[in-house]
Amino acid sequence: MQNSIVNLDKLHTTDSGAVRIKRNLNIQADDVVLWCKEFVKQADLIIGQGKNLYVYKNGEVITINSKSNTVITGHPIKAKVRLMRMSDYVCLPEFLYQAIFIPEGAVPPNRSIINSPQIFIYIKDFGTQPGDLGVVAESNGQVIGAAWTRIINAHGHINDEIPELAISLLPEFRRCGIGTKLMKKLFGVLRANGYARTSLSVQKDNPAVEFYKRLGYRITEEKLDHEGNEDFIMIKEL
Ligand SMILES: CC(C)(COP(=O)(O)OP(=O)(O)OC[C@H]1O[C@@H](n2cnc3c(N)ncnc32)[C@H](O)[C@@H]1OP(=O)(O)O)[C@@H](O)C(=O)NCCC(=O)NCCS
Repeated sequence: MQNSIVNLDKLHTTDSGAVRIKRNLNIQADDVVLWCKEFVKQADLIIGQGKNLYVYKNGEVITINSKSNTVITGHPIKAKVRLMRMSDYVCLPEFLYQAIFIPEGAVPPNRSIINSPQIFIYIKDFGTQPGDLGVVAESNGQVIGAAWTRIINAHGHINDEIPELAISLLPEFRRCGIGTKLMKKLFGVLRANGYARTSLSVQKDNPAVEFYKRLGYRITEEKLDHEGNEDFIMIKEL
């Protein structure tokens, strides 16, 4: 990982910082600084934002003042969910790529895969058609997840009254409840725009099937996609 941007030798915290970090992250260790050094060494992701470095690992984040090397705080990853803005559209290729299911042990596909017409249709000219609605999740000023719908002739299309959903988070931010927050926000946006249902397609083997069921989706159809993968088509009544 890019841990060289944190000066581990100079890493320290204040008395109140130590109390805060221990309390927020429920740490039993006596030496909080040593614990933070290990955290940094094993980090999944480090983001520099303003005067701070945000170090992410396993659903938790610690904040380090990059000038003084002080660990200021730590807490479970939190994200703000908001409406997608035009300025967020530039992130869509990344989230489209991240939405592609990669079975465990499989080699991730080349990023150019999103340019294939069956996939690119999910973002092509986004924002220009009815049903183009979206939300994003932000953590420390970075967009780390997105969920959006379109009425397009894609694999999960049912009819022109039912926008089809796509969703993904950057890998480091998964399984922290952020996807659920994104979906709930998007359901509200869809309702407010007069839609009564939303659909999606998902590979049968994708653990996201469970995620969708938990959010109230039901399986309406099974069909093969353009590559011969077995997919569920799912619908949610809003
Ligand atoms: C699917 C996705 C958007 C869910 O968002 P999330 O923030 O991770 O989901 P939440 O934390 O709100 O809910 C997690 C639940 O989703 C399911 N789930 C999602 N990914 C899973 C995985 N890799 N393994 C097992 N369960 C998973 C589980 O039911 C899990 O509940 P649990 O943590 O209590 O076991 C996110 O994991 C993701 O980006 N995945 C990769 C892209 C993708 O598959 N997109 C859907 C394409 S159809």
